[in-house]
Amino acid sequence: MSFPQNRLRRLRTSPAMRRLVHQTRIDVDDLVYPLFVKDGAGLVEPIKSMPGCSRFSPDTLVTEANDVASLGIPAVLLFGSTSKKDKTGSAAWDEDGSVQQAVKAIKKAVPQLVVITDVCLCSYTDTGHCGIVKDDRIDNDETCHLLAKIALSHAQAGADIVAPSDMMDGRIEFIREALEKNAFHETAIMSYSAKFASAFYGPFRDAADSTPAFGDRKSYQLDPANDRQAMNQISLDIEQGADIVMVKPALPFLDIIYRARQRFDVPIAAYNVSGEYMMINSAADTGSLERDAAIMETLCSIKRAGADIIITYFAKSAAKLLT
Ligand code: PBG
Repeated sequence: MSFPQNRLRRLRTSPAMRRLVHQTRIDVDDLVYPLFVKDGAGLVEPIKSMPGCSRFSPDTLVTEANDVASLGIPAVLLFGSTSKKDKTGSAAWDEDGSVQQAVKAIKKAVPQLVVITDVCLCSYTDTGHCGIVKDDRIDNDETCHLLAKIALSHAQAGADIVAPSDMMDGRIEFIREALEKNAFHETAIMSYSAKFASAFYGPFRDAADSTPAFGDRKSYQLDPANDRQAMNQISLDIEQGADIVMVKPALPFLDIIYRARQRFDVPIAAYNVSGEYMMINSAADTGSLERDAAIMETLCSIKRAGADIIITYFAKSAAKLLT
């Protein structure tokens, strides 16, 4: 059929008509809100590189988590940072570390909230790298042992999901084995599987104090040009025991989300990262675009590409817009 039998505008004639044929729906159930926690008490420090986001101490974080839950958001993703950095990042698996304390406090005060923890070394090592450095190289297998220790300490604190973001080979297997061995049969793993070496992490590194002291992360994170490798990485992570896989960042990699959706049957998370957050905020601040509309269009595009879960600093704003 062609024009004039076919006029697609017939289905766009009124708000009700548009609602009727509206396809992709963002739901508050899709959202995860990232939160930053550091050692201390009574702290709420606005993050300069990410206006609207703050760093909390474990005690103040509970209030924030309550807020998040009351908006209907089902999950938070916790990132730790510390001033006690060393060669191996040992503060990361301290049972009294800020993340471990925060997990315990949130699970006690807001038990209905799913608590996900970022598992990585970059905020804890003196090099700022996601693995331990030996002879100027990142030692993969040794790092995997430490990542398993971190994940286990998070599970012991009560984390529902651990989320390794380091991009070492084999880490899912190491983590799954440690969890099973210690009877954490129900702790899920959300793997940052297709995590690209991206320029869009800039604002976050300031927030989590995790900028590498030398070099970059290209020897472990994916080359943005490589979609086949991303598929390979995701399938290996599923084989090793990941329950949820992630594509990160989201916007420059919507095709990866789409391909992963066609190919794999586990839930797919997409991380709308700090640089994507700041692109919209900076443009909205200067009046170049309308913030709320840009947020919802962005989240819609990520969901339309095939993501089931969207991790975003806009989660609270979006939840408010959705009600
Ligand atoms: C570190 C980590 C990063 C992010 C999440 N975990 C930064 C990096 O890899 O350098 C980025 C998140 C964001 O930009 O919002 N393991």
